[in-house]
Amino acid sequence: MNIFHDIKSLQLFLKSQRSAGNAIGLVPTMGALHQGHLSLISASRQMNNITVCSVFVNPTQFNNAHDLAVYPRTLEADCQLLESAGCEVVFAPSVEEMYPQLPHLKFDFGSLETVMEGKFRPGHFNGVGIVVSKLFHIVQPDNAYFGQKDLQQCAVINRLVKDLSFSLDLHICPTQREKDGLAMSSRNRNLSTQERALAPQLYKALKSASEKLRTEPSAKVKNWVEQYLKTTEGIDLEYFEISDFETLEPSEELIEGKTALCIAAFLGKTRLIDNLII
Ligand code: PAJ
Repeated sequence: MNIFHDIKSLQLFLKSQRSAGNAIGLVPTMGALHQGHLSLISASRQMNNITVCSVFVNPTQFNNAHDLAVYPRTLEADCQLLESAGCEVVFAPSVEEMYPQLPHLKFDFGSLETVMEGKFRPGHFNGVGIVVSKLFHIVQPDNAYFGQKDLQQCAVINRLVKDLSFSLDLHICPTQREKDGLAMSSRNRNLSTQERALAPQLYKALKSASEKLRTEPSAKVKNWVEQYLKTTEGIDLEYFEISDFETLEPSEELIEGKTALCIAAFLGKTRLIDNLII
């Protein structure tokens, strides 16, 4: 496995791979890798000769200094996991390499970023848009892989690819879960034992809501989830939304394969998100 920390040597390597006719897949990550990330590596390996995994904790997408400070950084362990998963290339740049100066560029994703994550984390999707655009320019992949776990991020990147005519195919991969249903996340390792025991409640609420939605109106189901989680001690619900999975607009009625249930909550200081497409 090749590990690059600077853009120039990565690009030199990729140029030779491209001239040899090799297809390149990109899996952008912020490290602290788990089986969810590795499922994207595996999807990329099935379709490409070379898989590049970027590992970069992107400061411009954090609007909370505490969250950035405690974000786990485990490059050595990440590289070991990636090597055993058969990943060919790791790109792990420093903040200075990615941002010699802070970009003035501002993205406006319209209604895609005024709800849910965008509403509660102002500036977050601008930072995601900037770093993902940079990675697409640097790597110029044929295919790029993202997880449904971050559903709103998928909608934003889908729009980014169309608006900026990036010449690549986007692939959205299913959410990988622990045995008890908790969506795998790098943030799970920040949970205390007590918080970890409570965390599967988020998925349970999504599952129950998806059942209820078959017979009850959206507003009633939304109210039920809000009440259910508000009375669960240790879980501080930020939002629960029933939305179209592409436009993210509120869904009044259930449309099979299109309606998404999205949730964000704090367990102590750790913020978790999850979603379910019905
Ligand atoms: P990160 O949170 O590290 O996630 C990297 C990729 O892994 C994202 O596409 C995310 O949706 C996917 N992922 C995370 N948990 C998953 C799970 N349980 N199952 C399947 N896929 C999962 O998302 C980011 O980093 C950043 O915003 C990034 C796109 C790298 C830009 O900085």
